[in-house]
This record gives sequence, C-alpha cells and structure tokens, in this order.
Amino acid sequence: MSEHRTIIEPFKIKTVEPLAMLARSERELHLETAGYNLFSLPSRVVTFDFLTDSGTTAMSAAQWAAMLVADESYAGSRSFTRLETVVRDLTGCPHIIPTHQGRAAERLLCQALVKPGMKIPSNNHFDTTRANIEFVGAEAVDLVIPEGRDPNSRHPFKGNIDLKRLEGFLQQNQGSIPFGMITITNNTGGGQPVSLQNIREVAKLYKQFGITFIIDCCRFAENAYFIKLREPGQRDRSVRAIAEEIFSLADGCYMSAKKDALVNIGGFIALKNEDWIERLRALLILTEGFPTYGGLAARDLEAMAVGLDEVLDERYLEYRLAVTRYMAEGFNKLGIPTVQPPGGHAVYIDAKSFLPHIPPRQFPGQALACELYLAEGIRGCEIGSVMFGTFHKEGGFIPAAMELVRLAFPRRVYTQSHFDYILEGMAELVANKNALKGLELVYDPPFLRHFTAKFKPLAS
Ligand code: F0G
Repeated sequence: MSEHRTIIEPFKIKTVEPLAMLARSERELHLETAGYNLFSLPSRVVTFDFLTDSGTTAMSAAQWAAMLVADESYAGSRSFTRLETVVRDLTGCPHIIPTHQGRAAERLLCQALVKPGMKIPSNNHFDTTRANIEFVGAEAVDLVIPEGRDPNSRHPFKGNIDLKRLEGFLQQNQGSIPFGMITITNNTGGGQPVSLQNIREVAKLYKQFGITFIIDCCRFAENAYFIKLREPGQRDRSVRAIAEEIFSLADGCYMSAKKDALVNIGGFIALKNEDWIERLRALLILTEGFPTYGGLAARDLEAMAVGLDEVLDERYLEYRLAVTRYMAEGFNKLGIPTVQPPGGHAVYIDAKSFLPHIPPRQFPGQALACELYLAEGIRGCEIGSVMFGTFHKEGGFIPAAMELVRLAFPRRVYTQSHFDYILEGMAELVANKNALKGLELVYDPPFLRHFTAKFKPLAS
C-alpha cells in the first residue's frame, strides 16, 4: 500500500497562461458593468472559470503533437481514419460520423429521424438535446429515478432510469419512439452516474420493444470510473473494459467530445447498424461538411483520437473525480450545502438552503454566483429561477424546483493549490452570508434568460 493520502495531478505542466488576479473593488466595477450577469464578463477578469467543463480542457503534449501531423485533406483524410479506428475499437460501432460538437450530432439525429408528436425517453435530457427534440415537434421525456431528483439522497447511481416507468412508457407509446436514450453521466441531475446494471436493464427493455438504444456518452469515462468505484463486482475490471461493455449494450452513441475526449471542439455519432447512415450523411454534407471531417479541421480529429485514449487512464480518472469530491467535502465542512453525492464534473451548491433569507423571487442562486465572483473571482453558473423560473404577464412567478450554482471544473486546468485557495476564502463568505442581498431582474430577454438578463442588487 502507498504511504500517500494525497491524490496528485498525474501530469507535469509544459504550457502555462497567467491567472487574472483582481482586487474586489475592481471586480465590483466589472460585475456592475455586466449587469450582474456572469456570462457578460470578459474572461480576462475571471480568476477561476468554472462556467463549464465543456471545451475548456488543457490538451496534452501528445494531442498537440498529433495535431501537427494531421492530414488536412478534404476527402479521405488519414486523420479521420485514425479517429474512426479509435472510436470503433471503443464503441464497437463500425459507422462513424464526425460532428463539430454534441448539439450538431443531436440536430442530425433529430432532423433525420424524429417526426412531430414522437417521444424520446432518457434519464434526463440535457438542455440542447431537449431543444433539438422540441424543435422538430417531438417530446423529450425524463424518467430518472426519484432519488435523482432529491439533492440530499446519497444513492450511488442517481442517474439511473426508473425501469418501471420506462417499461410503462414503452408500452403506452409503442410506435411513436424513434429511439430511446440514456445520458452518461446525467449532467442535468448533477453529473450523477448510471450503473452498469441499469444500463443492462434499459438495453433489455429497449430491445424487448424493438427500440434503437442511443447513449449520449459525453462523460462516459467518468461514468465508467464511478461504476468501478461503486458497483459491486466491478472493482477489478479496467475502466476500458467497463466502458466497452457499456457501449456494447447500445445500438449507438453520440458524443460531445468537448468533455471526455479532452478536446476544445468536436463530436461524433457512432452506430452499429447502417440503416440511418445515408440519411445522416446527407444532412451532414448539407450543413456540416464532407463525411470525413464533419465541420472540423483534421487536427481536431487527431486530438480527439488521442484524447479518447488518454481519458481512460485510471490515474487521470482517479484525480478527476477526487477534485469534485474534495471541493464538495470542503464546501460541506464550511457549512455550504451541495447536491449529494458529488458528481463527476461539477459541484452544485444548494443556494436555497444556504441563503434561506433570500426568497426564490430574488434569485438566491444568482446572488451567490455574483458573490463567489466578487469574493474569489470564480465564475459559476446559476441553475435555478433565473434559468427556469416562469414569470406571468399578470405578475405571478413560479420558481424553479431548485436554486443551484454549478461550479464545473475544466479538465487538467487548475491545481490543488487553486482549490485550497478557493476553500480558504469561503470561510469569510460563510461568516457574512446573512448580509448577502437578493437581486432584482431589470432586463428579461424573450429567450434563454440566463445568457443575457440584467439585474440590480436589492437595497434590503
Ligand atoms: N449532452 C450533454 C449531457 C451535455 O452536457 C452537453 C453539453 C451536450 C450534450 C451538448 O454538447 O455543448 O458539445 O454541443 N454540455 C455543456 C455543459 C454545454 O456546460 O454542461 P455541445
């Protein structure tokens, strides 16, 4: 047994960029100019950018090296063949369609296969998945287990699908389901994993009803490592073997490579059967590009091919999940409640419990996100009533079910001392939390409020 308790970053740093270090007074001015909306801040005034883990990865020397030898041919690029081989080996799917990111894959699948009135089940659909399904007139149906909706439940696989509900749903809607899905990990539910057992049962149900099973696999490696850690009988298997079994259970998958392929841009669809391929490729050519580059440069295909291999390094995954766990436990020790247990890519602070004196109408999540910026230069993302609250013309207001602040950690970017520094500063924020004020919405845009809304701090 090793003497060491500390899980270290399993890499050395070769390229660095300076960290923006501003005084609170400077941040106050920037936040006011941004209308108390963190999306409007230029990144140069943000110290710790935890807005998303998507496309924010630090790439490895091996990825950068592969980018230099890329073959930028319009058709038949050797870099595509390389990616194709890696994805085939991992997923067991012979048919690979590259896309520029996850939502491009979603759009192709939805426009090629989904008709108005159809329904697509999953544990929880991510926002862009839902939007693409709704855009073609269909319905995105969430069937996560009840524990997946309870921020305090410590169920080890809160991303699981409720099998009873899925079976009932499949019985009732036979004939109007173009394909069935599952998202690993379940981002909308807090980056929570799905168990291998659940994926096996879901696959069995879809098969029984003759429905094609597609996995949204953008965090497949994190999910596979959770299975290794938490699922009985899985500890002695390699993460690669677990991942390969997951893919073997489905008919195909699509991926936003900006997550577990460790790249800044990219994605793909991978399918076992060729039935859909012609339709998907026709749409791909129309708007994304030729089938051997799909809207990407060949160097991006190379970086994905290397990243898909690197991400299965268990030292990397041990460190990756340790970051989230360390931050959640650190927050909890200071009295900052988070969604339990911590997921793979992000910590979700429960602002409603932490700031009970700020009613949902005054956006406790947004108020906390703003204070995290002022106190520490952190940029997180409110997932609460700013994002999902409903205002009626008559003045009524329906708050979101939860008032969360998501801190999503970029892969291989920040170090242990950055995280310790953040936790040190939190003590003061906790001590002064009762003085925090809510916000008033002063500009409410017609769509996707959280991106462009403007706020004003309330005086009391
Ligand atoms: N599916 C899941 C589960 C996601 O988390 C995302 C993106 C997508 C699909 C869409 O992929 O961004 O490449 O088009 N999630 C990011 C996030 C944006 O911040 O959670 P994309």
